[in-house]
Amino acid sequence: MSTVQPLRRLTPAWQDARPYDMLVRPDGMVHRTLFTDPAIFEQEMGKIFGGTWVFLLHESELPGPNDFKCVNIGRRPVIVTRTDQGEIRALMNRCSHRGTTVCMEAQGNARRFQCAYHGWMFSNTGELLTVTFAEGYGAGFDKTAHNLGRFPRIESYRGYVFGSLNPDVEPLLEWLGPTTEMIDWSVSALTTPGARVVRSSTMVFNANWKLQNDNNGDMYHVPFTHRSIAQMTDERHGSGKALDHFRGDNTPMYVKYYGHGHKLIDQRPSIPSPWERARPVPGRETYAAALEARYGSEQARKYLDMTGRAGINLILYPNLIITGAGSFNVYEPVAVDKTIVHSYGVVLEDAPTEVNALKSRFLEDFAGFGYRDDNEIFERIQHSLTTIPEMEWVDFSKGLGTDREVTGADGAITGAVSDETGIRGAYTYWRQLMNRDVHPCVLL
Ligand code: FES
Ligand SMILES: [Fe+2]
Repeated sequence: MSTVQPLRRLTPAWQDARPYDMLVRPDGMVHRTLFTDPAIFEQEMGKIFGGTWVFLLHESELPGPNDFKCVNIGRRPVIVTRTDQGEIRALMNRCSHRGTTVCMEAQGNARRFQCAYHGWMFSNTGELLTVTFAEGYGAGFDKTAHNLGRFPRIESYRGYVFGSLNPDVEPLLEWLGPTTEMIDWSVSALTTPGARVVRSSTMVFNANWKLQNDNNGDMYHVPFTHRSIAQMTDERHGSGKALDHFRGDNTPMYVKYYGHGHKLIDQRPSIPSPWERARPVPGRETYAAALEARYGSEQARKYLDMTGRAGINLILYPNLIITGAGSFNVYEPVAVDKTIVHSYGVVLEDAPTEVNALKSRFLEDFAGFGYRDDNEIFERIQHSLTTIPEMEWVDFSKGLGTDREVTGADGAITGAVSDETGIRGAYTYWRQLMNRDVHPCVLL
């Protein structure tokens, strides 16, 4: 007599998983469609840029009451305002009547915004103040239901202002986690009172925003992608400058994954003096001599060490990178294959003019020269991932399963400096956010 075998389960367990689990694998492989699929990009704009904290601006960009600045957050046009009372608000730049963009200026100072279509007037807190020819609206018309939509959550840390469209998002400090130690270091490396942002440059590349986010946590590429800068510096000024402190993993530098998508490259262990390391720039000797004459050599050296790249890349997911010299960049996704990078430099109001002049010169290396090299690589990647669907996976496994990766008491994972530890970590957060049901919303 034959026995009937129970049906064997033929489908692997991962087919039960949420769809995004199949696209970001535990072995460090990430599917090409994360970079090429417009439908995934749309989901990211909701679940990532609408689901977690997103960097809006630096407080110093709105120094006075009624200052405002327009930004795009996951493509949504937003007016970030400082009210009469000094409070920061993030308003949807979309008229509550028929949807017109309300403010067309990039930044400025205004108590009110008037829509150019039918003249409705809004305060810089978002409140609808005036409806033109209002007698045409019936008794049931509720003016308070027609304010500009605004972000339900805004919090800031050490001058960096974040907003979220997810009212249930965790407190900002919890989300930043152990990265605050590095932000504190970066900010106090400056003469904190009087730090002020000045816009330095904007770059556009035709590739996915995550390629930039990955790259800022990638030291592996530096001797190859930026070879021309390294070579030029070496030939003109000799060794010991710019990028030649990295030629492999035999170095105390490291990468780190903090959780919540945040990652770090720390070059400080190999850069005892950012001033000594920095590429010579026009005016270097004159500025240094002027500072020494005025402040003495010890204080002059402290000032000079504020001018170069201080050696950290701290990437706060999804759209901010802070570097140790106080400058920072913001990634603005435009389409699945188009991204804008805004690079900002910080000047110190209370520092000698020589310090600020040198800080600006050094920004010409990075983001200036350096990002051009990277952008070229991003566009090559975008092209290949789009046009060769037969090759499905992108490999972020470097460091995985080796004894180079160590988990610390705070849960952060440290890897050797060329490892993809931080980048891979960010993709685990991507997967977590994309699998979540979130409902971005605005307050009226
Ligand atoms: S669309 Fe703004 S007032 Fe009509
Ligand atoms: Fe680079």
